[in-house]
Amino acid sequence: MSVSSSGSAAYSGSLEGSNAQRGLWSSRFAFILAATGSAVGLGNIWKFPYVTGENGGGAFVLVYLLCIAIIGIPIMMAEVMIGRRGGHSPVNSIKAIAQRDGLNPAWKLVGAVGILAGFLILSFYSVIGGWAISYVGTTASGQLSGQTADAVGAIFSGLLSNPGTLLLWHTVFMALVMLVVAKGVRSGLERAVSILMPALFVLLLIVVGYAMTTGHFGQAAAFLFQPDFSKLTTSGVLVALGHAFFTLSLGMAVMMAYGSYLPKKISIAKTSITVSVIDTGVALLAGLAIFPIVFANGLEPGAGPGLIFQTLPLAFGQMPMGSLFGTLFFVLLIFAAWTSGISLLEPIVEWLEEQKGMNRTVSTLGAGVVCWALGIASILSLNLWADFAPLGFIPMLEGKTIFDLLDFFTANILLPLGGLLVALMAGWVMSKPAMEKELALSPGTFNLWFVTVRFITPIAVGVVFIYNLM
Ligand code: PHE
Repeated sequence: MSVSSSGSAAYSGSLEGSNAQRGLWSSRFAFILAATGSAVGLGNIWKFPYVTGENGGGAFVLVYLLCIAIIGIPIMMAEVMIGRRGGHSPVNSIKAIAQRDGLNPAWKLVGAVGILAGFLILSFYSVIGGWAISYVGTTASGQLSGQTADAVGAIFSGLLSNPGTLLLWHTVFMALVMLVVAKGVRSGLERAVSILMPALFVLLLIVVGYAMTTGHFGQAAAFLFQPDFSKLTTSGVLVALGHAFFTLSLGMAVMMAYGSYLPKKISIAKTSITVSVIDTGVALLAGLAIFPIVFANGLEPGAGPGLIFQTLPLAFGQMPMGSLFGTLFFVLLIFAAWTSGISLLEPIVEWLEEQKGMNRTVSTLGAGVVCWALGIASILSLNLWADFAPLGFIPMLEGKTIFDLLDFFTANILLPLGGLLVALMAGWVMSKPAMEKELALSPGTFNLWFVTVRFITPIAVGVVFIYNLM
């Protein structure tokens, strides 16, 4: 990422430095790039289609889109605003604002939720990143060409049943993330993203183009966009809410950290909306690419986390130059996952550096290795421990493996909780004039945002939580 003062990449700014000393994003574009790099990832291409399939389609998608619009975007604005006003890493930004506005320093809890969530998410995120790495070889070798749905499914089950292979690719993915976090060589990677993300978008369009030829595009579009509320459950609403946070990288103080580098003159609202629109666009395209293939091949929309690995390879096996496109696709997916993975590890590394006085290499190694080890539990959930549901006695968590539990607890509980704290902080305790100045919106728009973070977000998150507990 290009930060205008020399040397310091985002996050690694000194504790004491003000915004000016830490260096700012050189442009609005640089911020959008980094924020999009974090937001667009496995959440859009791997998770969105499968949770949509599991939750019945259209009605779920509608709730998800509403969550993005009325909760996600306002929370993203609040996070970026807190980061820019605080001008430090999340924990210290909140401390700084707490001092200035006379708040209780306990609001630092927001940062703590983020650190924990990032660490837990990365442990299984890296396993899925590993699947993507493994599929580069699978597609490049040409073994998918002309395969039936059954054969493609068997290749995927073969991967899942092999803990050794899964561990290998999980290790490679985690090493890639640790390398960048330790070295702070993000600038090159993030500049690459400005080419790779559009390329991913184009490849998705190519798959959508192929999907249109399957004869089931209309059925897929109806599945995604015609809400059938009889298929929506309360837990589906929770998943939609959680996924809105997950996909936009919210509730984890990531956007707060990035916001601390945003120059004052740049509109927080416009940039937040841009990032959210790109992120949502990628997810919807992924849905339009995958569901026609699902229906054309008689596959199960609710097949779960393997959905894209059982559908996209079919498309690549059938389209002209499929091996090439398929290989490219999975390479680009790795890049998308990589930039998100970095933003998941960063908060804990930064915390170890600032609070525990460790240097960057040691803290990256420490946090990365523990996270990697935790990932092994997710790997085993896919095979040897597939029937092990540690919290199965709780009705809501019945049948959930360790992998499922980590996903559930982080995306559906921790991130919305982090977002709730951000909303409460902005809506109830921070100085209103200071926020007005920071957001620089028209009075009408500001009030709309303010009412949303003050009332709508806390009530929505609260209601969804309470309903699901009952
Ligand atoms: N938003 C990322 C994705 O959709 C995941 C992520 C969540 C990254 C939270 C950072 C923080 O893949």
